[in-house]
Amino acid sequence: MSGTGGRNGTMEKYFLATFGCQMNVYDSNLIGGMLEKKGMAVTGDAEEADVLIVNTCSIRGGAEDRAYARIAAMRHYKRRNPDVRIAVIGCMAQNHGDKIPVELDHVDYVVGPDNYRELEALLFQKKAKAPAVLTEQNAFENYDGIMAKLDSAVTCHITIMRGCNKRCTYCIVPTVRGVERSRESASIIEEVERAVSEGVKEVCLLGQTVNSYRTEGDDFASLLRKLNRIEGLKRIRFTSPHPRHFDSNTIRAMAESEKICNHVHMPVQSGSNAMLKKMRRQYTRERYLEIVAELRACIPNLGITTDIITGFVGETEADYRETLSLVEEVGFDSAFMFSYSPREGTPAFEEPETLTAEEKQDRLERLIQLQMGISEKRLDAMAGREEEILLEDRSSRDRNEWVGKTGCCKKVIIPDAPGLDKGSLVRARILSRSGLVLRGEAIIG
Ligand code: SAH
Ligand code: SF4
Ligand code: F3S
Repeated sequence: MSGTGGRNGTMEKYFLATFGCQMNVYDSNLIGGMLEKKGMAVTGDAEEADVLIVNTCSIRGGAEDRAYARIAAMRHYKRRNPDVRIAVIGCMAQNHGDKIPVELDHVDYVVGPDNYRELEALLFQKKAKAPAVLTEQNAFENYDGIMAKLDSAVTCHITIMRGCNKRCTYCIVPTVRGVERSRESASIIEEVERAVSEGVKEVCLLGQTVNSYRTEGDDFASLLRKLNRIEGLKRIRFTSPHPRHFDSNTIRAMAESEKICNHVHMPVQSGSNAMLKKMRRQYTRERYLEIVAELRACIPNLGITTDIITGFVGETEADYRETLSLVEEVGFDSAFMFSYSPREGTPAFEEPETLTAEEKQDRLERLIQLQMGISEKRLDAMAGREEEILLEDRSSRDRNEWVGKTGCCKKVIIPDAPGLDKGSLVRARILSRSGLVLRGEAIIG
């Protein structure tokens, strides 16, 4: 292995495209950290890369189609320079394994989420002999001891647990990500402290069911309390908590820890008990509403966001209306809304779909419309409020403006003013809404 040997004898360069959720973004940062430590440099220009990596997602059919298209389009780099190495990694690599280099014969490596330590050695080999497919699952791999690259100078995401034990009937994640495992809190604290020492102000803890985090010494609430004591860290977020594990202990830790933001992203998936049961979500509509009420009672000005699936197998118009009514009852600040996509290998895949593509699309669109109106109302209600916002960067549209976020996770644009800088936490007055963004001004002095 060496740090030189790229084109023209310079350092080798890698290009990394990431699809899917924040956990994939974190994994890409882990891989970036490993490669850069060994002397490879990142490039945003695939044309000049020696190594091309695509980190893929399998969550819905559309996510796989997009990844396949991107990988297929990389064939021309290989044609032009046969020394280029191409790796397909992530959840789709795990899902389809050795089918990938058969369908896309320019791919050299297919590496699943538990095999990234081996990926590093593979990528430093000068030339691939035959396609290597590494998809063995390892229930203990949590990448402790590897320092991920930082996402940005101000905020960063850190995976605290991997895999999922839930087996929701529509979901491919447990198959591709394996069983749940939590990192030791000491290792998480070390990673957060290092990020803070490099200027990071806000950390977002990641896990598929982040609040089921558990080690011998800690549970999610105790981890939150420990992180809250880290000096220099200003804000803590997490995603996604599962309603089944949202206990009063966690809510108390949130309410009592000043750094934990007044925001929860808590996927509900459906408002119908029949659908929740069929999805194997392990809570009812009533229980979900109870958690929302407890959260709102304990945490002022809480922002609540969610994920919803419409058109699941067997969803009747009445079930769907239950979802619409739950959306109205909670008044989510925003939501990620999806049309059900059958995934081979999941229990629900075995059942024939009961709705046409048009019916599914229609239900999704009606839901989006309803949520959009609610999102706008929630934003409008913030006008006149004083909020603390964390400035993430200057606006790309106007360099004299800053983009920041409130604790409740609303984007706010404010004009530049003396003393404002990237990473500043500033008091701002919210003035108005423009689309789904708020406008405000810093309160100086
Ligand atoms: N672990 C998180 C969800 C991760 S996947 C949780 O349980 O809350 C992100 C979202 O994708 C899910 O919340 C769900 O809304 C959606 N999703 C998962 N599988 C899907 C499928 N087969 N079709 C459509 N949407 C799906
Ligand atoms: Fe998928 Fe359910 Fe696990 Fe979330 S909790 S990742 S939806 S199986
Ligand atoms: Fe996709 Fe894998 Fe995340 S399937 S949503 S990238 S865990």
